[in-house]
Amino acid sequence: MSIARTKILKVDPTSIVFNGDVPKISDPETTQALSEAAHLLQSTNNPVAFPTETVYGLGASALNTEAVLNIYRAKNRPADNPLILHVSSRSQIESILNVQIPAIYLPLLDKFWPGPLTILLPVPANSNISSACTVGQTTFAVRLPSNPVARALIAISNLPLAAPSANRSTMPSPTKADHVYQDLNGKIPLVLDGGSCDVGVESTVVDGLSNPPVLLRPGGVTFEDIVKTGGDAWKNLVVAKSTTKDNEIARAPGMKYKHYSPVAPVLLAQDFTKANTDALVDKIVEFVGQSEMTVKSIAILRTRQLDSLLANKLESAGFTVIDRELGTTGSQISHNLFASFRDMDSQHSDLIVIEGIDEVGEGLAVMNRVRKAALTTISP
Ligand code: TXA
Ligand code: MG
Repeated sequence: MSIARTKILKVDPTSIVFNGDVPKISDPETTQALSEAAHLLQSTNNPVAFPTETVYGLGASALNTEAVLNIYRAKNRPADNPLILHVSSRSQIESILNVQIPAIYLPLLDKFWPGPLTILLPVPANSNISSACTVGQTTFAVRLPSNPVARALIAISNLPLAAPSANRSTMPSPTKADHVYQDLNGKIPLVLDGGSCDVGVESTVVDGLSNPPVLLRPGGVTFEDIVKTGGDAWKNLVVAKSTTKDNEIARAPGMKYKHYSPVAPVLLAQDFTKANTDALVDKIVEFVGQSEMTVKSIAILRTRQLDSLLANKLESAGFTVIDRELGTTGSQISHNLFASFRDMDSQHSDLIVIEGIDEVGEGLAVMNRVRKAALTTISP
C-alpha cells in the first residue's frame, strides 16, 4: 500500500464531551477532522491513526478483513499477532459483536472503563469479527478507550476498531503524532493529532476466562488496582511469563516477537543509588571496554535514585553525556519512556543507560518494556 502523502489533522480532545455514550464536539476543526477520519474508516480499506490515552493506535473496522490486513501491511506486523478491538460503549460489545460480558469483568469495567484495561472475551459462534483480528484464537481482546478523540471516532463511525499501536513493527509505540508520521508516512492517509498520550505505555491485558485469571500484559492499570477492585474472583491473579516458543500463538504482546530496542544498546542499571555512583561508572566503563563498539556518547535516563553526579563522572571519564530525567513517579516515568527512547535514537547516542525502578504499581509495566529494550542488566 502506498499513499502519496500522509495528512496530519489537529484535533482538540478538550473540545469533546460525552453525554452518556454520545460525543458532543464544540470545536469545528475537530468535528471536521473526525468526520474525515470516520469517512475513511467507513468507505475505504485504509487504516487511520488516532490518539488514545495509552499510545497512538492504527485503526480499521474489525469487521472488514481487507482493512485489517492493511493495518498489518502498513506496520509490517507479523500476521499471527492478534489485535485489540476498541469500542466506544459497553453496549456495542453486545449490539455489534453479539457477546455478553462475563460477570467476572464487571467490577473491573465499572472502575476502569473507559480506560487502559483490555479484557479477553470468547469469540461467539458465527462471529462477524474478522479472522484477521483474532488469527485463530477462541478469544478476542477488547477495550473502551478514555481518550475522547479515540472514543468519538469509534462512536461517529459506529465501527469497532481493531487497533494496534501505530508504530512500524519493532519500533517503540508512538506517544505523539509526530512519531506515527516518522514511522508510517506514505503508508496511511491520515493521522489525527491530539497531542501527547497521557499514560505512555500500552493497556493492561487481562484474561478473566482462565482460572485463576491471568495478567497477560502489564500496562496502564496496575496489578494491585485489579486485585483490589476485582473482589474474590481476582484475588489469585497471576502474571503471565513473558516468553513464548516460536511455534506457540502468543498469548500476550511481546511474548513471541522481538520488541523494540533502540539502535544504541541499552544497559539497565538496577539497584544503584547516588552513594554508589562510582561503582556504576566502573561497570559502564567495563562494559564499554569489553564491547566491540566505539562509545563516545552516553545517554542517561534516570529515575528515582541517581542524580547529575553520574553525568559529571562520565564526562570526567571522557564521554559526551546526555542526562535526562524520566521522572520520579510511576506515571511520569511511563509517560516519558517511549518518547525518550525515540529521542535518544534521533540524537545518535552510542549507549543508553537507564535506571530501573521497583516492579510495583506502574513499575511493573515500565520494567516490562525496559527489559525488552535492554541488552544487559548491571547491578552493584
Ligand atoms: O494500549 C493499547 O492496548 C494500544 C492502543 C492503541 O489501544 N494497543 C496495543 O495493541 O497495544 P498491540 O497490537 O500493540 O497489542 C495487542 C496485543 C497483541 O500483541 C496480542 O498479543 C494481545 O494484545 N492480544 C490480542 N488479542 C489477544 C487474544 N485473543 N489473546 C491474548 N492476547 C491477545
Ligand atoms: Mg504494539
